[in-house]
Amino acid sequence: MDRREFTKASLGAVSLAALRPSFAGPEHLIRKAIPSTGELIPIIGLGTNRYGVDNLEASRAPLRAVIGRFHALGGTLIDTAPQYRTSESVLGDLIAELGIRDDLFVATKTDKPSATETEAQMQGSTHKLKIKKLDLMQVHNLRGWKTAFPVMRDWQQQGRIRYIGMSTSRASQYADFEAVMRKEELDFIQINYSLEQREAAQRILPLAADNGVAVIINRAFGGGRIFKTMGNKPVPGWAKEFGCESWAQFLLKFTCGHPAATLAIPGMTKLHHVDDNFGAAHGRLPDASERLQQEAFYDSL
Ligand SMILES: NC(=O)c1ccc[n+]([C@@H]2O[C@H](COP(=O)([O-])OP(=O)(O)OC[C@H]3O[C@@H](n4cnc5c(N)ncnc54)[C@H](OP(=O)(O)O)[C@@H]3O)[C@@H](O)[C@H]2O)c1
Repeated sequence: MDRREFTKASLGAVSLAALRPSFAGPEHLIRKAIPSTGELIPIIGLGTNRYGVDNLEASRAPLRAVIGRFHALGGTLIDTAPQYRTSESVLGDLIAELGIRDDLFVATKTDKPSATETEAQMQGSTHKLKIKKLDLMQVHNLRGWKTAFPVMRDWQQQGRIRYIGMSTSRASQYADFEAVMRKEELDFIQINYSLEQREAAQRILPLAADNGVAVIINRAFGGGRIFKTMGNKPVPGWAKEFGCESWAQFLLKFTCGHPAATLAIPGMTKLHHVDDNFGAAHGRLPDASERLQQEAFYDSL
């Protein structure tokens, strides 16, 4: 089944244009370049820390549908980790069942304290994900970075990993994170950044831009918590000028609108969330003054 046939099959009777008024098809997605290669990537990816489910079809079917829709809408980057319980195995199975591996960009992580354990963990990830060549391997929360990076570079030279990076989601790690960014040559970093938590914009995001490092934004919704702040308020009219039809799009366009951000990876286990979030990858992103307006608006809530 080629990509076009799969798209048709996974959407069933629902035509792409009928999904959302703003949806103009995968070819119109906003993409940004990975600085180390120039490869373009859609600005909405998929976070899977809630994909650690059991083997039951009832548990897996909704996730298969989400990945199918994500792919049909043009999404490519899926982020996982050995720490997300069975997430790697579940993804490996579902991606194989859907037959879409070649269209995806699969990112996972390592967190072991020695080279031998790093090697074994990365082999485990390739086995569970059923992927010979991983797109991105990230040191998770700085754990074991000194011994992990040489092993990762070795794998990169052997063609077993395409890109190298590291991740965090805690401001308490930023000082150490910055120090490692200054030591290591990285393709990617992954970091939390949202209207609620903007500390990454002080030093880490500018440094990534200066060093030509791609940035994956995690926790753009604060794990879902931010929606409570928005309550039942309507999205302001001025945000519709840059295409926001929902609070999720308002939050994602803010994070992806940062010049250093390459893409965001909202956690999604529901189809309507995938449809909603892909709306943020259409139209345009807010400019610097519109992003300041978004910050002032959020701070006034
Ligand atoms: N240190 C690290 O490396 C690190 C740390 C944290 C996270 N991460 C990565 O970042 C990803 C994202 O983080 P996260 O999942 O914790 O937080 P998040 O993306 O900020 O929030 C996810 C939550 O928002 C909900 N949601 C998604 N789209 C929505 C929409 N349009 N409207 C309303 N609610 C919506 C999801 O619901 P449903 O699930 O019901 O769709 C889920 O409950 C993780 O999955 C993981 O891959 C990495």
